[in-house]
Amino acid sequence: MPKVIVAPSILAADFSHLADEVRKVEEASADWIHCDIMDGHFIDNISFGPSIVGFVRKQTKLPLDVHLMIEHADHYVPRFVDAGANSITVHVEPESKHDVGKTLQQIRDSGSRVGLTLNPDTRFELLEPFLDKIDMLLIMTVHPGFGGQSFRAEQMEKVKRAAEWNKSHHRRIDIEVDGGINAETARVSIQNGANVLVAGTSIFHSDDYAKAIRELRDPG
Ligand code: DX5
Ligand code: ZN
Repeated sequence: MPKVIVAPSILAADFSHLADEVRKVEEASADWIHCDIMDGHFIDNISFGPSIVGFVRKQTKLPLDVHLMIEHADHYVPRFVDAGANSITVHVEPESKHDVGKTLQQIRDSGSRVGLTLNPDTRFELLEPFLDKIDMLLIMTVHPGFGGQSFRAEQMEKVKRAAEWNKSHHRRIDIEVDGGINAETARVSIQNGANVLVAGTSIFHSDDYAKAIRELRDPG
């Protein structure tokens, strides 16, 4: 079993104390920092951009896991690379308005890890032409746009298919889940084959970050 990686999503952090929040989750043994980039076009919310990612970069040595929920991701990839992203994940849906294959190669050529993601209503088949070009597959367990939503258990079918793909192709792409992840849904996700857990509310809205992260990594 690959080590379970916990990536707190700063979308749920207290932005008036963002530097402290990032340092606190690093001290609490987080593995990565998940950065949710929303443009108000691909999805119905606006979050933050490369300048905030650059600010977070200065607060921590942890890998920055940048999740682009934007249109025309290819246009912005260089700015997130310059800001210090260690992995960049883009959406596969046509509504994200980019040439998926070209953008994945662009991320690869930039030296960042390459991630691909799909919304809950998107079929797994849309990913298949690209699975051998990526380092990480992000299965959204909520419809993207907001933190604090409920986990969609039916998405575990896609986690299982990704784990089967790894097995049948002798690969180990990371299988990441994002949305409604807490100790209980972490257990379900790991049982189905996920090894990277993104969590916002269950960490930043707890009063003990280390305990919250421990319970995600080892839900027992
Ligand atoms: C939603 C984002 C998630 C979100 C997770 O669009 O991609 O990363 O911040 O937040 P919780 O853990 O609160 O569901
Ligand atoms: Zn996310």
